[in-house]
Amino acid sequence: MRSYKATMVEPVRLLDRADREAALREAGFNVFNLDSSDVFVDLLTDSGTGTMSNEQWAAMFTGDEAYAGSESFRELEAAVRDVMGFERIVPAHQGRGAENVLYGALVTEGDVVLNNAHFDTTRAHVAANGGDPVDCPVPEARDGDSDHPFKGNFDVETGRRVVEEVGAENVPAVVLTITNNSMAGQPVSVANTREVAAFADDIDATFVVDACRFAENAYFVQRREDEFAGESVAAVAREQLSYADACVMSGKKDGLVNAGGFVGLRGEDAAGRGPSGNPTQSDDDLYERCRQRGILFEGFSTYGGMSGRDLAAFAVGLREAVEPPYVAERVAQVEALCDALADRGVPVYQPAGGHAVYVNANEALPHLPREQFPGQALVCELYREGGVRAVELGRFAFPDTDRADLVRLAVPRRTYGPDHLEHVADTAAAVCEKGEEVTGYEVVSEPPMPELRHFSAELRPVDENAHAPSQ
Ligand code: F0G
Repeated sequence: MRSYKATMVEPVRLLDRADREAALREAGFNVFNLDSSDVFVDLLTDSGTGTMSNEQWAAMFTGDEAYAGSESFRELEAAVRDVMGFERIVPAHQGRGAENVLYGALVTEGDVVLNNAHFDTTRAHVAANGGDPVDCPVPEARDGDSDHPFKGNFDVETGRRVVEEVGAENVPAVVLTITNNSMAGQPVSVANTREVAAFADDIDATFVVDACRFAENAYFVQRREDEFAGESVAAVAREQLSYADACVMSGKKDGLVNAGGFVGLRGEDAAGRGPSGNPTQSDDDLYERCRQRGILFEGFSTYGGMSGRDLAAFAVGLREAVEPPYVAERVAQVEALCDALADRGVPVYQPAGGHAVYVNANEALPHLPREQFPGQALVCELYREGGVRAVELGRFAFPDTDRADLVRLAVPRRTYGPDHLEHVADTAAAVCEKGEEVTGYEVVSEPPMPELRHFSAELRPVDENAHAPSQ
């Protein structure tokens, strides 16, 4: 049962089937182009789409809008230090702003960056700086039936092999994404974090944690990693993040806000408090390089693209994200959706991720060849059938990978109720029942950068007859 009640509501409506059909066509069969008012249950993303608490709204009224030295920035800095253990931050308007700041400071032409799995914007930022993003997931990550407790882990053996090939001097950063969004939102253990930290240290690379969903990851660690059975989520989160040289954070996930992000770094904070170890010259250099890039791209170093109100709400949200029972309820809701889908015979990746359930479109629509984007076909059909918006994270989003065609149903935080999620499960089951009636798609236009294809490409059904508007 949820430990909160809603005192502000936003109406949603389910369009008629003919109107959904027309909206989908108008959107070029790309659900990123749909108006949100035409969507009934919006599981496109858990990013910035959640509900803030009354404490967060209250904090917004006290936002200090000063250009420099904002009190709200100090509140965020203090929250990051207390909750995540980073002494210094370079604020940014959202996660990818922070990625631009950090990867622009670390990566140069010809470099290779290793990650358990790059998220799309991370991949794009590494590539935009001339780097080659290489994924190093553990083999179990690709197995939606394996019950390995930490399928998000980084495979250090793969990492070492890549380093042998390209040379350690060409690997400036090793990144650990927790939870591993591109690998079905699976968690990463603290043991693996330690191993990756040691590997990064060996090759003299900066160890970066992409900490967007650090609280959800900590909850999995508390439940699944013996060493942490009696620990609080807050304690696990601090322990796990303590191994990183730097972090990239999107506040739109476990910051429980609608906008904001930062790069977290080691060193002395404004009050002269340093990290548990000694900040090195390279910590100071990296901070300074990030700060200058932050000023250039995001805004002065005490707001970075956020308003004072955003900073204030973010400071409160970060603390709420590790407080019981919030994160336990959050993950339980995602697990309930996964179970509801599995009970109806929808082929889901198991176990559920922290923020989303992933449906395997190759299994759901086995008649569609991979060139016809079964994942995108499933996404279109979920909208057509029940006004549900999901996102493809398979061949359409990641053109050059051999990954399965997964469709992600991401659950916004503190937003939908069990009835909405039942509707999602019923809709997905109805789509699976249609089977061979569901047509594949082909791309008719796409942007120049393949890493960003799924955001703006347009498609058309291979079999137009399958999509004659219903009468
Ligand atoms: N890193 C990860 C692991 C992410 O999941 C995201 C965003 C980012 C970085 C970038 O953060 O959106 O604030 O710029 N993920 C969202 C998603 C968009 O739908 O999974 P951002």
